[in-house]
Amino acid sequence: MSPFELNGKTILVTGASSGLGKQTAITASRYGAKVIITGRNAVRLDETFRSLLGEGHMQILADLTIQADIDRLVAGIPQIHGLVHSTGISDMTPASYITSDTIAKTFRISFDAIVLLTSGVLRKKKLVKNNSAIVFISSISTRYPFTGGAMYVSAKAAIEGYSRVLAKELAPRGTRVNCIAPALVRTPMMNETAENYSQEVITQIEERQLLGLGNPDDVANSIVFFLSDASKWITAGHLILGGG
Ligand SMILES: NC(=O)c1ccc[n+]([C@@H]2O[C@H](COP(=O)([O-])OP(=O)(O)OC[C@H]3O[C@@H](n4cnc5c(N)ncnc54)[C@H](OP(=O)(O)O)[C@@H]3O)[C@@H](O)[C@H]2O)c1
Repeated sequence: MSPFELNGKTILVTGASSGLGKQTAITASRYGAKVIITGRNAVRLDETFRSLLGEGHMQILADLTIQADIDRLVAGIPQIHGLVHSTGISDMTPASYITSDTIAKTFRISFDAIVLLTSGVLRKKKLVKNNSAIVFISSISTRYPFTGGAMYVSAKAAIEGYSRVLAKELAPRGTRVNCIAPALVRTPMMNETAENYSQEVITQIEERQLLGLGNPDDVANSIVFFLSDASKWITAGHLILGGG
């Protein structure tokens, strides 16, 4: 069997009702994984579910900012070999307009929920020992920040720090922890940014990225690599997917 395949592995993908999480779930199923997908929107989550290849997949609706939903999700899954965190929201609040609500809104889903789901999965022993993997999605903006991105970038930087500590803590049990940092990718989040803020900003970014805007499968393929045995000697990694 090719080390790039995911046969025999069960993978939990959050944010699977849209964008990068959706494509990651589909690609992982194409590589042979059984996939457990979660998100809030029932219609879009089911659309992802119906796009999965193979059998034995599960879908579980959950709002990951609610602890009871995290607990129900963790209780409802079998043992997994991989966990991909693809939830998140965009935020473009200029520094002088930030309030405690702005901080809470971004961090609750882009940091707290991710950390709490991870600890739930570990505490309930749902992640197999030896050769399991956790993948976080940060953003290239922690290196190349954008105006108005104070909360978004800060939450991503916090996740990067968290993932490095987790890599150290989980290495002895055989779990690898890696972080992907994409530049701008064509997903509903990007469309929302263009609509709510400015198409001009998107065009400027597109011109700056040597290979142009990314597509969800560009990110999903790298995530699958980090879930697969092909990356069994890689942990505490930080892969920038910037299109050059
Ligand atoms: N697109 C890019 O250019 C880009 C670049 C760098 C990094 N990223 C990061 O990649 C990740 C995925 O982004 P994307 O572009 O795929 O975004 P997206 O299309 O907007 O998808 C976001 C996902 O997060 C889920 N979500 C949001 N709030 C939630 C909550 N409270 N509970 C459970 N799920 C929740 C959404 O579920 P529902 O729709 O069901 O509510 C959706 O499935 C994010 O962390 C983002 O910051 C994206």
